[in-house]
Amino acid sequence: MFFEDAQKYPADPIFGIAKEFSEDKREKKVDLSVGIYRDENLKSNRMECIALAEEKIAPLSVHKTYLPMRGDVAYLDLVGELVFGKNFYTDHKDKMFSFQSVGGTGALRIAGELIAREFNCPIFVPEQTWANHRAIFAKSRLDVKSYPYFHADTHALDFKEITSFIESIPKKSVLVLHVCCHNPTGCDFTNEMWQELSKLCFARELLPFFDFAYQGFANSIEEDAYPVRYFASKGHEMFVTYSGSKSFGLYGERIGAFFAYGKNGTYNVGSSGLNLIRGNYSNPPRHGAELIKTVLQDSNLRSIWENELNEMRERIISMRVLLKDALTKLNPSKDFSFLIHGNGMFSLLGIEKEKVFNLAKEEAIYMPGSSRINFAGLNKDNIDIVAKALIKGM
Ligand SMILES: Cc1ncc(COP(=O)(O)O)c(C=O)c1O
Repeated sequence: MFFEDAQKYPADPIFGIAKEFSEDKREKKVDLSVGIYRDENLKSNRMECIALAEEKIAPLSVHKTYLPMRGDVAYLDLVGELVFGKNFYTDHKDKMFSFQSVGGTGALRIAGELIAREFNCPIFVPEQTWANHRAIFAKSRLDVKSYPYFHADTHALDFKEITSFIESIPKKSVLVLHVCCHNPTGCDFTNEMWQELSKLCFARELLPFFDFAYQGFANSIEEDAYPVRYFASKGHEMFVTYSGSKSFGLYGERIGAFFAYGKNGTYNVGSSGLNLIRGNYSNPPRHGAELIKTVLQDSNLRSIWENELNEMRERIISMRVLLKDALTKLNPSKDFSFLIHGNGMFSLLGIEKEKVFNLAKEEAIYMPGSSRINFAGLNKDNIDIVAKALIKGM
């Protein structure tokens, strides 16, 4: 009566691959698809700082009542300090509005709906971007457009092309920017480029919208926050969405945050966000915020977290180097240096879709059709096998 008229939608490409991978019975299969960090044993266990935080909060969690719609305010202040820097955040707190979100995705969705309702303007995402950006913003009823970003042939961005395009977009548009570890290319703007982009945003009256999902995965917790902190220091009105999924390994806890910063009217923007939250999920879940708050408040846990984050970053960098070396050995005439110039877990290899599917079918090596690989799916045991298989398609 009702159900048979419903449309059938295709499976999500990334989570669809994860399912295919889990059903593959071959022993030596390799998963380079879903964006989850794995250690050298290819395990994604809880971080040590989180395990200790869970022990610490267990006796304190005596009730499970609702959080405020905004979420845990102490958690938001601690994340605000991580994102904007402690001094800036403390001095400018009265110009900020924040709420805790259901992962980075939840923050993006509420922000998208808020833009559609309050600003009625187009949103520009990079041409290559996290696949869900377009879906989230389109479902928020936004007019989603793109700006040029990356060139597959050079494995690099063309900054001139990007800036001249941005100069031509309508004034008062929203510009989505990956703060670091651009997903899927691994190609980030330099600090000088960020400074240039700040000038452009002022000139074109754009709202910079920073998606910050990988703090600590590129260079360090502090250095990775440069774009947000630079723009804030210049006095832009801006949005920041934050994800605790990667930096705290809390993927399944669905923990993130949203920040609006601006000289005037931030409270109105925040009140609109809260109104949207109330009609969506009402209040965010407790546990993830409790864990991050506990880690950041306790100097011992905090230093364990910082060390673990450093280790994760170093492992990813070492996998980038090993893969580059293995591929170069197999084909010395080709330049694979883009692999070590990229930041974070991902790079786009530039392998044709059909060959990507053959890699899964014939070699049990899984990645999305875009040929984005997650370096955390590699380890010393599988890297040579993977390199031998990849070289055929590259
Ligand atoms: C660029 C980017 N933004 C946001 C997210 C969403 O993160 P979360 O899993 O916290 O919803 C991701 C996750 O992969 C991402 O890559």
